[in-house]
Amino acid sequence: MPPPPPIESSVAGRRDARRQYAVELADALRVHFGDGPAARLFFAPGRVNLMGAHLDYNGGPVMPMPVDRGTLVAARPNGLGRVRLASLREPGVFDSDALPTTVTGAWYDYPIGVLAQYRAADRPGSSEGLDLVFGGDLPIGAGLSSSASICVATALALHGCSGERVPLGTAERVGPKLGLQLVEEALQAERGHVGVQCGIMDPFAVGLGRPGHLLWLDCRDRSHEHVPLDTERYLVGIVDTGVRRELAAGAFNERVAQCAALFDQLRSTDASEAWLCDVPRARFDDALGGLSDELVRRGRHVFGELERTHAARTALVRGDVAGFGRAMTASHESLRDDYQVSTPELDTLVDAATAVPGVLGSRLTGAGFGGCTVVLLEREARDELVEAVGRAYRARFGREPVTEFFGGGDGPHELG
Ligand code: GLA
Repeated sequence: MPPPPPIESSVAGRRDARRQYAVELADALRVHFGDGPAARLFFAPGRVNLMGAHLDYNGGPVMPMPVDRGTLVAARPNGLGRVRLASLREPGVFDSDALPTTVTGAWYDYPIGVLAQYRAADRPGSSEGLDLVFGGDLPIGAGLSSSASICVATALALHGCSGERVPLGTAERVGPKLGLQLVEEALQAERGHVGVQCGIMDPFAVGLGRPGHLLWLDCRDRSHEHVPLDTERYLVGIVDTGVRRELAAGAFNERVAQCAALFDQLRSTDASEAWLCDVPRARFDDALGGLSDELVRRGRHVFGELERTHAARTALVRGDVAGFGRAMTASHESLRDDYQVSTPELDTLVDAATAVPGVLGSRLTGAGFGGCTVVLLEREARDELVEAVGRAYRARFGREPVTEFFGGGDGPHELG
């Protein structure tokens, strides 16, 4: 097997490829909608979550980071009062002067959810009409947050086209005010328009992501800060099982409902307790005898993950990256045994990865039931990791997993 390309050139290579792809996207815009003003190009990343699994909708902390893959959108005003949307990745073109108020089931429900907010608020340029063509390299349904990515990319393009200043190029960052606006608009599109009761982690991670940093987000009160990861020394790998989780929405919603049921049984009359994570662990421990086996397991994961995530952050801030990695692997064991959202494919990848010297930790990422694992490793362990997960996966499932590495992806920006 040929060795993977060096990471540095592959991150730079991905940026070059992104610029190249942006040219194709601008061409596609002309092909779909004819000549017009030059298109502007905007990017929003996907995300991977390292700690705080299934805590966002329980009011706990999460620690995601952006990846070097994401959504690209070419945008230009059309002066026709029409909204025209196309994608290089999905079938179906939207072209109308009115925006639907209910979901159509097509991919463009997500950008329409953002566009509708612009029209409703009568933001500058919102009535002139816009052409948007979407593309990118984020796998869809792999647990890397493609839906938050398309929503944030749309919101960024609309801010840019309304004449607001948005970050230009990869070296510039989204400021806190614009970042939070992007997050709110993406959340509103998904929850209000598309009708998915998603947690807040994904739009925050995508909208506020910074290269080389994990985002510490307390989902209880939305307080957040960026925690640096020494990406000279360590890498984040993503190993894709190739199993897509379209059919897993039911199982995800079931976990959300079980946590709500557990909170109902444990909550006190104290109004300051608004989330499961606000309940003291001792109260859960005292209630164990009266809870179903299922709720005991779900609670064990949530309360254990809450402690692990705080400990992981302390370890990282102290420079104890190995301690952070151990918390990731313990998180996987809890997701497998107590939260029961893992699969044999994910377990095989985690077991193979954690046996490699220099791998500090690994777990499933996203909701589970398929998708990807995330691995934290020393740079030198990269080649051995690729071989080890490939060998184990081929032996058990007869196919190759896709492994990629990130030194910390770019945040949302306009391509310069
Ligand atoms: C999915 C959801 C997130 C989060 C994770 C589990 O990815 O979109 O909001 O709940 O699952 O941590």
